[in-house]
Amino acid sequence: MHISSRQRVSLNGEWGLEIDVLDAGRDQKIYECRTETPEGRPENFDVTAFRRVAVPGDWNRQFSELAYYEGVAWYHHKVSRPAGWAGKRAFLYFEGANYETTVYWNGEELGTHEGGFTPFYFEVTGKIESQNTLVVRVDSRRRTDALPSDRYDWFNYGGITRSVWLVYSPKNYIKDFIVTTEVGKKQTFATIDFEVVGGDKGERARVLIPELKVEVPTKLGPGGKGQVKIDISAVTLWTPQKPRMYKIEVACGGDRISDEIGFRSIERKGEKLLLNGQPLFLRGVCVHEEAPRTAGRTMHERDIEFIFKTARSLGANFLRLVHYPHTEQMARNADKSGMLLWEEIPVYKACDFKSKRTLGVAKNMLAELIERDRNRASVIAWSVANETPETPERSRFLKDLVKTSKALDPSRPVAAAMFAKRNKKSMTVKDPLSKIVDIVGINEYIGWYEEAATAAASIKWKSEAKRPVIVTEFGAAARAGLRGKVTERWTEDYQEALFNAQLDMAEKISFLVGTTPWVLFDFRSPVRMNRHQQGYNRKGLVSDQGVRKLAFQVVRDRYEAWRKKYEGK
Ligand code: GCU
Repeated sequence: MHISSRQRVSLNGEWGLEIDVLDAGRDQKIYECRTETPEGRPENFDVTAFRRVAVPGDWNRQFSELAYYEGVAWYHHKVSRPAGWAGKRAFLYFEGANYETTVYWNGEELGTHEGGFTPFYFEVTGKIESQNTLVVRVDSRRRTDALPSDRYDWFNYGGITRSVWLVYSPKNYIKDFIVTTEVGKKQTFATIDFEVVGGDKGERARVLIPELKVEVPTKLGPGGKGQVKIDISAVTLWTPQKPRMYKIEVACGGDRISDEIGFRSIERKGEKLLLNGQPLFLRGVCVHEEAPRTAGRTMHERDIEFIFKTARSLGANFLRLVHYPHTEQMARNADKSGMLLWEEIPVYKACDFKSKRTLGVAKNMLAELIERDRNRASVIAWSVANETPETPERSRFLKDLVKTSKALDPSRPVAAAMFAKRNKKSMTVKDPLSKIVDIVGINEYIGWYEEAATAAASIKWKSEAKRPVIVTEFGAAARAGLRGKVTERWTEDYQEALFNAQLDMAEKISFLVGTTPWVLFDFRSPVRMNRHQQGYNRKGLVSDQGVRKLAFQVVRDRYEAWRKKYEGK
């Protein structure tokens, strides 16, 4: 559902929160917000006495006693009826909450959403009193049948981690519009598809691109659907170097929405990746969603700016947002500032590939991500998996996901990160998954999990995939400030030597279209507890405190050389 240009009230701010360790709150009907039972006895959960918490914000970083809390907690917030309300439709819109969220409005259960990283909303039209109580149950427990499942190499931040809105619209509203750009040799076309909820066949609608002085009248078809195709050959196409955007407006009846759109095409041709028909080489880096320097899942504008500034300083034109959908503001910032993105759903390593329920959860997450970011020019791939086992069930599961992605968004390549077959002197891309996706990501840690730092330099690569390949993970851990010999793991010197060897190897891979080394910043992970890691994965090119390691300069120098080689100036 489109909300960026709609009338909306932010519900961000200070809410009430209480943990519910035994998950007893539902039976005690917390959502009815009573302070006493009908018999006049004090309630165990009294929302008026909840502790104060910032929304958005994970609870782990806001209360030291909740630092490692994974469980159920209840939020409470009072919402007064905003002005300009009468006769409108109203929606409670959550940009994200981890992991399972149930929403209650004035004591009524509106519904439950599963998934820690994609938006969801519930309609509250006709249910807005002058004073309202919003109660939200968030369950952050890891589960074997969840996505990600119960074991992963990052921190499980719980809570309402992204913004909450009260959004309103006319009775009949334009749900969203989707822009598809076709860049031809002589002409470029934009097709704008949209849907009017409550719209009737034959109803008039208009699509406008004011800057091009374009206004195209049209009529709705069945189901309130509309489509116009516009010759936009006059536009400047969006590229990372020149991220030119245009305002598109769609109007129907009393409703009108708009968005800033970059017109570009992305496609694979054999082993090449083409942006606007031109071969693309991706100088990238992996990024987890964790606020640099302060940690925590919630990203404020300053955190996003710092990530982009650091990535640009590295010489990157591409970010692999791992291993789950990041906040929408990352894609909007990337559109504006000219950064390409890989976005991924958390089908991470082992999950239950035989489970229809898990497949349904994965399809829903993918659909929510695509619905949210489909119009972002910066997003060039939807990734459906990371390092999943080569089993028939997994291939069937992912083939189904690829089909879902193509049905929802035929305009974008589908990707996945996987392993290559290693022998002493070579790496061969031959995982069956490499023939199911459009872009093949290969994760490898030559020189870190085994062998010497410089082992990669002599490795030769082959590929049976006949598709573009990105080395989507390589790297080594280093404690910022720890110096020593290039043979000493955990030193910056070891990491620096490994990056030189890895980048030398990358330059000899004929079918490579990019690299995204692991990882821009050190990040929190409860499975990294030795004396060098102390609860952090230390493979960052930059420490969690923003200190750049020697390897940062290695990548920066090499990316500058690659920029000149591929972009000619
Ligand atoms: C894996 C995985 C990452 C993990 C990394 C590592 O490839 O994809 O999530 O953090 O390796 O071992 O550091």
